[in-house]
Amino acid sequence: MTVVPSADTGATIIPEHVAIIMDGNGRWAVKRSLKRLRGHEQGAEAVREALKGCNELGIRYLTLFAFSSENWSRPVEEINHLMGLFRFFFKKEIKALCDAGIRVNFIGNTSKLPEDIQELIEELKVRTKDNNKLVLTLALSYGSQAEIVGAMQALGEKIKAGELSPGDIDEDMVARHLETTGLPEPDLLIRTSGEQRLSNFLLWQCAYTEFVFLDVLWPDFKKQDLIAAVGEYGSRSRRYGAL
Ligand code: IPE
Ligand code: IPE
Ligand code: MG
Repeated sequence: MTVVPSADTGATIIPEHVAIIMDGNGRWAVKRSLKRLRGHEQGAEAVREALKGCNELGIRYLTLFAFSSENWSRPVEEINHLMGLFRFFFKKEIKALCDAGIRVNFIGNTSKLPEDIQELIEELKVRTKDNNKLVLTLALSYGSQAEIVGAMQALGEKIKAGELSPGDIDEDMVARHLETTGLPEPDLLIRTSGEQRLSNFLLWQCAYTEFVFLDVLWPDFKKQDLIAAVGEYGSRSRRYGAL
């Protein structure tokens, strides 16, 4: 964990890493007497807005919660539709992502996804690996508690193999065993739809993240919403426990 208390105000106006819990697709559809699936389709368009906003503001890392480990308990029709959307957009957007200099990264238990989507994920990772304008991390089949358990298991294996003793484990070591290793911790977390909870997203990584909760439903999210949330972030005083 890299917490650097600074002597100055601490707040950089533009966050380096923004994470978004993209929530409210179903409610957006129900409000319009549409099927929930239409909300997910429209939600995919809102991702473009978030990317535009990051580009305008110069944000370097964007992490999007697209499907949680708990979302597997939704009706199979909804899951299949979401998988269809991932498949469609991964195929359709690969060239545009390359051209825009975006590196695409994934966290979550992607081995639970259909095999062709796993292949698309590998292709996206490989084809965008040298891009450096923005790192876009998609959390798919992601659950933070399972991620932490995975890190504990890996550390336990190292202890068993005699490579490590329990006293060697510190915050940095745990962080390096999480799926987010290599990413800075989120500076700003945005959740849309008015809900104010983390829903098992980046529990470890958000130790000192600033939270902004927006009432807008994800399909209505526009780049101005990102700009407004970043403005709110800029007005916060990040103290990291110091004075
Ligand atoms: C977020 O929208 C997208 C996913 C969780 C996949 P929801 O589907 O949770 O929409 P609401 O919260 O029911 O409105
Ligand atoms: C969190 O939203 C997961 C994603 C946005 C992908 P949920 O809609 O699944 O969360 P809860 O159930 O309201 O906590
Ligand atoms: Mg929801």
